[in-house]
Amino acid sequence: PLVLHVLGARPNFVKAAPVVRALGELGVRQGIIHTGQHYDELMSDVFFRDLALPDPIANLAVGSGTHAKQTAALLVGLEEVFTGHEPDLVVVYGDVNSTLAAILVAAKLGISTAHVEAGLRSFDRSMPEEVNRIVTDSLSDLLFTTSPDALQFLAREGVAPEKVHFVGNPMIDSLFSALPKLDPAPVQKRLGLPSRYAVATLHRPANVDTPEAARELVDGVLAVAERIPLVVPIHPRGRARLAEAGLVDGQGVKVVDPLGYVDFLSLVRGATLVVTDSGGVQEESTMLGVPCLTVRPNTERPVTITHGTNRLVTPASLPAAADKALADGAATPSGELPPLWDGAAGPRIARVVAAWLKGDNLSP
Ligand code: UD1
Ligand code: UDP
Repeated sequence: PLVLHVLGARPNFVKAAPVVRALGELGVRQGIIHTGQHYDELMSDVFFRDLALPDPIANLAVGSGTHAKQTAALLVGLEEVFTGHEPDLVVVYGDVNSTLAAILVAAKLGISTAHVEAGLRSFDRSMPEEVNRIVTDSLSDLLFTTSPDALQFLAREGVAPEKVHFVGNPMIDSLFSALPKLDPAPVQKRLGLPSRYAVATLHRPANVDTPEAARELVDGVLAVAERIPLVVPIHPRGRARLAEAGLVDGQGVKVVDPLGYVDFLSLVRGATLVVTDSGGVQEESTMLGVPCLTVRPNTERPVTITHGTNRLVTPASLPAAADKALADGAATPSGELPPLWDGAAGPRIARVVAAWLKGDNLSP
């Protein structure tokens, strides 16, 4: 049997690495299809190196575009690849457009599918990712969840519970593997940072796609930089708009290119505070015990609030929230880490997939 993993965007690479490794250890025949949704060296290649991911067997080079244009290119490219390779299982990750397109194409071709990071819900359909999550989960044959609450959300949407496997969080597996390599000092030195600093990453469309939202966000972020030196590895999506809104070097702010995985996590590990609108960074800061302020009205990862260091903020509440976080440090409400975020999600997923490929009955 053949398993194909469809990957396209930065967070996909991080989630897939432990699954690919664990399936490899079980001797499963597999290949990576890179859709080319992300294509810059610092948004793609550096992750393959840092995560020791095998080279893709195909790169569709779909590139950027409106949702319709990008998804259309993904559908056409993936149909050709799936038809040519005839996989027994297609594995998709997270909630990006590459995930959505792969599940649609596989479902129409009658190919079985697995979704890693199923059942996350922000209940906010203005987020493109929420739409992708709902469609992907409704079409998946195997659903791997990172948090116990996912099961009830999926059941409510009509997903049969026997398809759902709570396995923990593969993004945290990658973090565990990287831990011995995480050294803040060289990155701090290269970027000219003092030893006490904050890191910000910002790329959600609702925050960066209009001049008004960008200005409001930048005002909040600059207020944080008045309190603690701030480094911003900038996602290409927000680069121009946030710069126009005033997010430029100077006055305690340093704007840099996106960082590779090991460099970025090193920087987070050494940081006093994280400000973000990323999904993955909410989880990683929780595991590294660094206070995290998430500039969003909601999160599909509430476990990072109940079991972690995360707080939801608005641009207007950022300065006061930063003051509080800097005074309180990283106290977590429960004192316990999220269940099964233990570095062994990849092997759990691989065992279920291998059993499924052999035709075992997986009903609990
Ligand atoms: C995508 C995901 C988002 C995820 C993010 C991770 C969707 C709908 N969104 O958002 O959920 O959080 O990836 O980073 O799939 N660009 C470059 N170089 C690149 C890639 C993109 O310059 O290598 C620029 C292009 O101007 C492009 C823009 O970024 O138009 C947006 O890229 P796109 O892949 O459409 O969405 P992201 O915002 O990256
Ligand atoms: N990340 C990185 N370099 C950066 C910013 C983020 O390596 O400059 C990593 C981060 O550690 C996490 C992943 O990229 O593993 C998250 O991707 P992103 O925030 O783009 O997407 P999201 O999680 O919001 O979908």
